Amino acid sequence: MKALITAGGKGTRLRPLTHTQNKHLLPIANKPILHYSLEKVADAGIREVGIITHKNGDEVKAALGNGEQWGLAITYIPQNAPLGLAHAVKISQNFIGDEPFIFYLGDNMVVGGLEKFIEVFEREGSNCHLTLARVKDPERFGVPELKGNRIVAIEEKPLHPKSRFAVSGIYLYDKTIFEAVNNIKPSARGELEISDAHQYLIDKGYKITYSEITGWWKDTGKPEDILEANRLILEHTESNISGLVNNDSIVTGNVVLEEGARISHSTVRGPVVIGKNAVIENCFIGPFTSIGHDCIIRNSEVEFSIVLHECEILDVGVRIEGSLLGVGARVVNAEGRPRTHRFMVGDQSLIEIR
Ligand code: TTP
Repeated sequence: MKALITAGGKGTRLRPLTHTQNKHLLPIANKPILHYSLEKVADAGIREVGIITHKNGDEVKAALGNGEQWGLAITYIPQNAPLGLAHAVKISQNFIGDEPFIFYLGDNMVVGGLEKFIEVFEREGSNCHLTLARVKDPERFGVPELKGNRIVAIEEKPLHPKSRFAVSGIYLYDKTIFEAVNNIKPSARGELEISDAHQYLIDKGYKITYSEITGWWKDTGKPEDILEANRLILEHTESNISGLVNNDSIVTGNVVLEEGARISHSTVRGPVVIGKNAVIENCFIGPFTSIGHDCIIRNSEVEFSIVLHECEILDVGVRIEGSLLGVGARVVNAEGRPRTHRFMVGDQSLIEIR
């Protein structure tokens, strides 16, 4: 079995962070999102991985290299334009050949391994095996209609969903998927849609089975959504203190403190990850917070937030909560009058003052 992972697309929903960075490289619990899918693929015993990139995939290539770090052999497959997920599959036919493969949307995060899905796919002799997540708002997703262990129809963003499930971003296919992607036509938005490829398989009587998946996250663009992915991962993170905690600090719950990082005169309540050489002084750091390497946080309180590397948070009088700070961002208390807020904010940023 091979794997195909997506790292292209437009990334419009995670602006402004995606103005300067491919969304698949944004850190969740201080690790690029793409690392999670590569780890899972490697853990499932897969060795050959194709990664769909933008036309120029240099950023992703530089971040992942040839994959040997995970024991993988990575082949990069550039997509000239984001013409849809079924298009991404179509251009990978040479790489995949006749082998079955797992198609993994690189911006999706799941808790748990892939082995159980592969096992059902193989045992059932399916042509296509989809993973389904129970969601509160199925009308925003592709929604399957189920009969026994089979999927008999899939509706994209239906007004009246036929189940409470959404099709998540992990799919298993045999070579019949290429018949589908080579026969469907672009949708009204000009993309080859993966849901049309699935519908093609259903209409032709191919066998589509499913597994239920728990702990699934799909970006939907709001800061809360990426914070939710961070929460999902931190919840399963174990303590590992390699940095220094001075005696008058209180560190509770699962906390990762990387090498060279220092906590002094502070309370850190896990789950929290603090990157290399970060300095936390006279602070409260609350649950579900990821702080990148080389950050400096002094006399401030931060909770349920992601702070990318090299940020500074200094003497901020109110708790920073539910926030996402891009690389090198600074939030500082300035002395003097008049008492005003001063901003130097990038395109499509959001600031909430309460
Ligand atoms: P989406 O999240 O559906 O789309 P997007 O990445 O363009 O983001 P946005 O809607 O915010 O602009 O894409 C799902 C995954 O598939 C993601 O990993 C990006 C990838 N992708 C491709 O690699 N090629 C494509 O043609 C498309 C549409 C998506």
